[in-house]
Amino acid sequence: MTVAFVTGATQGIGRATAERVAADGVHVVCADIQETATTVKAIEAAGGTAEAVSLDVRSASAWEEAVSGVLERHGRIDFLANVAGVVNMVSEDTVVGLTEEGWDYVIDTDLKGPWLGMRAVIPGMIDSGGGRIVNISSLAALRGLPNLAAYSAAKGGVAALTRQAAYEYGPHNILVNAIAPGTIDTPILGDITPEMKEANAAAHIIKRLGRPEEIASMVAYLFREGSFLTGLTYPVDGGWSAKGNY
Ligand SMILES: NC(=O)c1ccc[n+]([C@@H]2O[C@H](COP(=O)([O-])OP(=O)(O)OC[C@H]3O[C@@H](n4cnc5c(N)ncnc54)[C@H](O)[C@@H]3O)[C@@H](O)[C@H]2O)c1
Repeated sequence: MTVAFVTGATQGIGRATAERVAADGVHVVCADIQETATTVKAIEAAGGTAEAVSLDVRSASAWEEAVSGVLERHGRIDFLANVAGVVNMVSEDTVVGLTEEGWDYVIDTDLKGPWLGMRAVIPGMIDSGGGRIVNISSLAALRGLPNLAAYSAAKGGVAALTRQAAYEYGPHNILVNAIAPGTIDTPILGDITPEMKEANAAAHIIKRLGRPEEIASMVAYLFREGSFLTGLTYPVDGGWSAKGNY
């Protein structure tokens, strides 16, 4: 049995990733700080297999417990998708307006979380002969965007840590890549107005918001295909990063 561990699996990109990877015949461990039973049920209804795991990605001990449980039950984790993430709900997210609490909240979830995940999973991957890891970064790692100071630092860190992990564990047949999504229509967007949505859609060459499934299909590609890809962060952004100002 091939086993994937997907964080952020309750909703949005993580849920779409869990469902897509399960549709490819992989057993999916659906991890989130919120309940993932709905995702598991949807996977099972579609003929796949999955299990729910409660996990706060900021906690090293929670990661150790979750990963050792999966290794006890299944003996291996072939794929890790670090999808769980937050935007700054604690403070303004500008360099000057950020509070220390706001910085810690975003960095702990969006950067420390993926690091702890890789640290917990990689030794088992080495023991079983290899694996694939996909981290979700952001266009904010590559471009200046409004009110995303701590977030851009976290996501830039994810891109750098992805490269570093690829370098360190490539010799163990572990491929590590990241995806930098444009704006994807998920609950993370909060209560944005239709006008704000439209303005955001217009930033993409493909003039709409992305769908969670469009990121999930890239994760699935990096898990099952992509055998000569490692260490890089791939924009999946409707052309946003390819666009000039006009
Ligand atoms: N939606 C976008 O426009 C967009 C763009 C670029 C990058 N991203 C990134 O994609 C990832 C998924 O975002 P989304 O849009 O699906 O958001 P979302 O809010 O819909 O889902 C995020 C999930 O992460 C979980 N989560 C949050 N904190 C957690 C924690 N401490 N431990 C475990 N789980 C936790 C939430 O419960 C939720 O299920 C995030 O890393 C986000 O930064 C999203």
